[in-house]
Amino acid sequence: MKYKKHVFICTNQKPAPKKSCGEEHGMALVDAFKERLKDLGLQIDIRAQKTGCLDVCAFGPSMVVYPEGVFYGKVELSDVEEIIQSHLIGNEPVERLRLAF
Ligand code: FES
Repeated sequence: MKYKKHVFICTNQKPAPKKSCGEEHGMALVDAFKERLKDLGLQIDIRAQKTGCLDVCAFGPSMVVYPEGVFYGKVELSDVEEIIQSHLIGNEPVERLRLAF
């Protein structure tokens, strides 16, 4: 596997009044994850990138972390550091943001 963790953040946009991650702050989340991972020197092992609809639009902004396949919903910019430290580095998913599947 190329990356230890691979993070896909939805930036899909739908016309209003439909809810979509890209119309909220999906792209800002991508930028925040990329920037912080780079600051920490982790961008080689942990990749964060944008993706299309993850089919959990009602819970957006959403993202998924592989290889675990853990989905997160209603992710705020203020949650980025906790997800990085707890899950991406510490391997402990952030349960309060986790979507149950
Ligand atoms: S628009 Fe983000 S999950 Fe559908």
